Order: sequence, then C-alpha cells, then structure tokens
Amino acid sequence: MPNSLDDPRVRATLERLHGAARGDLRFFVTHLPLMAGMLLGRKGPPAAELAHTMREVYVPLSRAQGRFLFLVARSIGARRLVEFGTSFGVSTIYAAAAARDTGGLVIGSELEPSKRERALANLREAGLAAQVDVRLGDALDTLRDVPSPIDLVLLDGWKDLYLPVLQMLAPKIRPGGVVLADNIKTFRRSLAPYVEWVQSGRNGFSSVTLPLKDGFEYSVRL
Ligand SMILES: C[S@@+](CC[C@H](N)C(=O)[O-])C[C@H]1O[C@@H](n2cnc3c(N)ncnc32)[C@H](O)[C@@H]1O
Repeated sequence: MPNSLDDPRVRATLERLHGAARGDLRFFVTHLPLMAGMLLGRKGPPAAELAHTMREVYVPLSRAQGRFLFLVARSIGARRLVEFGTSFGVSTIYAAAAARDTGGLVIGSELEPSKRERALANLREAGLAAQVDVRLGDALDTLRDVPSPIDLVLLDGWKDLYLPVLQMLAPKIRPGGVVLADNIKTFRRSLAPYVEWVQSGRNGFSSVTLPLKDGFEYSVRL
C-alpha cells in the first residue's frame, strides 16, 4: 500500500511550512486587539479584508491534526475531499497525500489571492499539484457546485461560516463521510451553534470534540 505522507518531498515541504508557521506568533502579538475581538466572537472586519490583513499568517493544522486528517481519509478511502480555508496549503498537503493514495481529489477554497498562489506553489513543491483544485473566492460560492458524493470535509476558514458551509455541503456527504472542524475550543463562543448542530443528533451527524490542538470536531454522516 502506498503512503504518500512518507514521500520525502511531502515530508520536506511540510517540515518547512510547519517551521515557517512559527512566525505567526509575531502577527498575533502585534495585532492583539484584533485577535482578542476574534476570540470573543465580536464582529470584525469584512471577511476578505481580514483575509488580506492576515495574508502572511499560516494558522495551519498541527502535525498531529494533519496526520489524523490523512489517516481518516485513508481509512474511509476518501476520493472527494473538500476544504474550507486553504491558507498556504498545509492541511491541503496532508489531504492531497491521502488523495494521491486513494486516486482522489482535494477541492480547496481560499479568499485571499496571494495565499492561493502560495498554496499552489507549496503543493507543487510537495509534488501534489495534480491532486488539488484550489478555488479562489468565498467558499459559499466556490464550493456550491461540488458534486456528490463528498467523502470528507475540513472546515478551517473564518468561524461564522462553518455552519452555512456545512449546511450547503451536507446533502452531498455520503453516509460514513467525515467532517473535521478546527479551533472548537479557541472559538467556543462563535462555534457554539456549529457544535450544537453536529452534536444534537437532529441533523444526520454523530459528533465528538477530539483533544487535538485546540479542539478538533470529528463528525460522521449517519
Ligand atoms: C485557519 S486558515 C486555514 C489553514 C489551513 N487549513 C491549513 O491548515 O494550512 C483560514 C483561511 O481561510 C480563509 N478564508 C476565510 N474565509 C473564507 C471564505 N469565506 N472562503 C474561502 N476562504 C476563506 C482565510 O483567508 C485563511 O487563509
């Protein structure tokens, strides 16, 4: 069985990117009021303006979350993987490594043009460009026409859109399909409606918050 996460080009690119993401701290320190407002769930700047302000910030999945994403995708044989919030493509590389092994495709989405370009360059560096289609613009528009069946969804864009994006995609997610959502504890307040929706048992999902980084919601379509 192939394991593209062990591919030297994939490993080297991920190492470089996880290292570079340590520089995010500088942005957080110099933008404390903005960060505090986001954590408290206050209304911030418009989505595209915030994406532009944060154009040098990675805020990626952790290594453990990335490996978990890869393993889940491999274990359910995911062939159509959808991502809300690509940034520089760290999570996309983990998903695309699984897609290479399953013969699948990752459909990503990114609001900030310069980030999409850099994500594509990073995917080329990892040798995974053929496994991705990263769409530029608001995910609510760019992911609207993703065909069925969807096997796996990663939600990692701005938090107010997790629920609308999932509600848009949910009818196309196959039974046994998985939805992963990042930052559940850090954005507890803004993500409460999302967590309630997936955990209530009323919307076709069963779900648990995993203790990976600051809370990784793992939801299965029933
Ligand atoms: C937390 S980062 C994603 C990190 C990425 N998943 C990773 O692990 O490397 C969130 C990204 O979502 C993008 N984003 C926010 N709102 C969006 C929207 N409505 N549509 C598409 N992308 C969006 C932001 O520009 C930002 O780059």
